[in-house]
Amino acid sequence: MAMAGAQRPLILLLFLQVPLLQAARILTLCFVGGSHYLLMDKISRILHNNGHEVRMFLQFGDGMLPDHVLRQSPYPVSSYSLGEKYKQEFRDLFVESQKKYLKGRYDLDAFMVFMGQLSYQCNITLHQADILNFLKEGKYDLAVIEGFNPCSFLVADRLGVPYIAFFPGIFMNAGRVGAHGPLSYVPLFQSRLTDRMDFFDRVKNTVMYAGSYMVDRMIDASFQKVIDEHFPAGSRPSIADLQLDAELWIYNVDFTIEFPRPLLPNIKCIGGLLAGPAKPVSADLEAFISDSGDSGFIVVTLGSMISSLPVMEFLKEMNGGFAQMRQKVIWRYERSRWPIDVEVAPNIRLVDWLSQNDLLGHPKVRLLVTHGGMNSLMEAVYHGVPVLGIPLFGDQNENLIRIKAKNMGTFIPPEEMEAEKFANTMRRVIEDSRYKTTAMKQSVILRSRPLPPDRELLGWVEHIIQCGGGGHLRPYSYQQPWYQQHLLDVLLFIATIVVVILYLIVKVVRLLISFLSPNRKQKVN
Ligand SMILES: *[C@@H]1O[C@H](CO)[C@@H](O)[C@H](O)[C@H]1NC(C)=O
Repeated sequence: MAMAGAQRPLILLLFLQVPLLQAARILTLCFVGGSHYLLMDKISRILHNNGHEVRMFLQFGDGMLPDHVLRQSPYPVSSYSLGEKYKQEFRDLFVESQKKYLKGRYDLDAFMVFMGQLSYQCNITLHQADILNFLKEGKYDLAVIEGFNPCSFLVADRLGVPYIAFFPGIFMNAGRVGAHGPLSYVPLFQSRLTDRMDFFDRVKNTVMYAGSYMVDRMIDASFQKVIDEHFPAGSRPSIADLQLDAELWIYNVDFTIEFPRPLLPNIKCIGGLLAGPAKPVSADLEAFISDSGDSGFIVVTLGSMISSLPVMEFLKEMNGGFAQMRQKVIWRYERSRWPIDVEVAPNIRLVDWLSQNDLLGHPKVRLLVTHGGMNSLMEAVYHGVPVLGIPLFGDQNENLIRIKAKNMGTFIPPEEMEAEKFANTMRRVIEDSRYKTTAMKQSVILRSRPLPPDRELLGWVEHIIQCGGGGHLRPYSYQQPWYQQHLLDVLLFIATIVVVILYLIVKVVRLLISFLSPNRKQKVN
């Protein structure tokens, strides 16, 4: 009894000092592999390590990550596999797509093929009745969902859990979330423009605005069959509405890379969750690196989803370019898939997987050669490493246009890959000190943010739970019909008044003239 009495003031004290939040039950949803998974895993870890009860609902199938990356998670995971047959089909499809990307042919068709796959997978996800029922009974306080795949929204809706959407890249869909940027300086996704647009750039950006609506409709349409199959008529959600229903939107964006633009209070930018202080690299790699002397080394990765190159010419040109460099090269490339008849340049070390963040933090690193995925770029910014990009698909072109505009590096379109040009460009980015200086400056900007990204993420998730949602951040525009939002009704009203007034003025003037003209005639007479 005495002990219980002694504890009470302590408990009171705790209540006063610690935020009201107790451990919350949080579900994370991840139905896209590769970098999307790496981010959702990091988010789950942050929430788990800060005392929350976290579970991830994960789809295995298109990760393209080595198994060891997927296996180690400190939080429980409910997962299902898309099956070996489909996985093989998807892999084959992806290899075929890569061949196109490497020839510089990434287009809307390729994007829609990918969305078609996501929709096909979503059908399988929504058929996982056992897991869905189990998760529904889990009574989660909140879900943090991967916001690129429309399926995440459908699953969250099915489970009846409020959700925060985490978007893995730049503001590709900000318009859908109500943050239309002014077209005069906010380039549309896939416009390949920067924030400095001349007259015809602005014409292009404006015309593309109409096109972006059509793309959104196409994405939604590709999920319609799945919605029809899994939700009863009368209560079928629309993806557009579900996206507006998110309690908060968090983008994997930082203004060291993205162009500044207006946003909304329910949109947060927390970029660079995977970038951080470097750990020492393995003794083996360290020995390889120290052989490079003062020349240093180059890190090469073409993304978590591309571990080998199916186009021989492309591989030969890259290999030939590296052969001309003084630097050592550490290249993430699945060694078993390297063609036998091509000799690996002597300064190259191929590795099946590498800790990019640790290598970029090494004092001898000189350059990152990358596909331009956001996570890689954020790691380069964090460590102040200049970048040479080879954009292949998705947002990579747009990301690298930003890197170039900010003078942190440059890029070579894949169809222009040629050994001599590649080597010259690498040399230019390494030797022209402006790139390194800018990279270091961006690094200072990123590292001096008031809060590190993991604290910020935790803070916003807990804020949403404590407030019982994000309604206080959501603009009223979400409830307005589109013509009210864009003031079309007001414009019509004002235009009508102006027309009526002009009409009356013309009438009056005509009347006056007709009154005056007989007099004038008389005078002349
Ligand atoms: C979803 O999967 C089921 C079972 O495999 C199949 O019968 C159905 O046709 C699929 N629906 C869609 C829209 O793909």
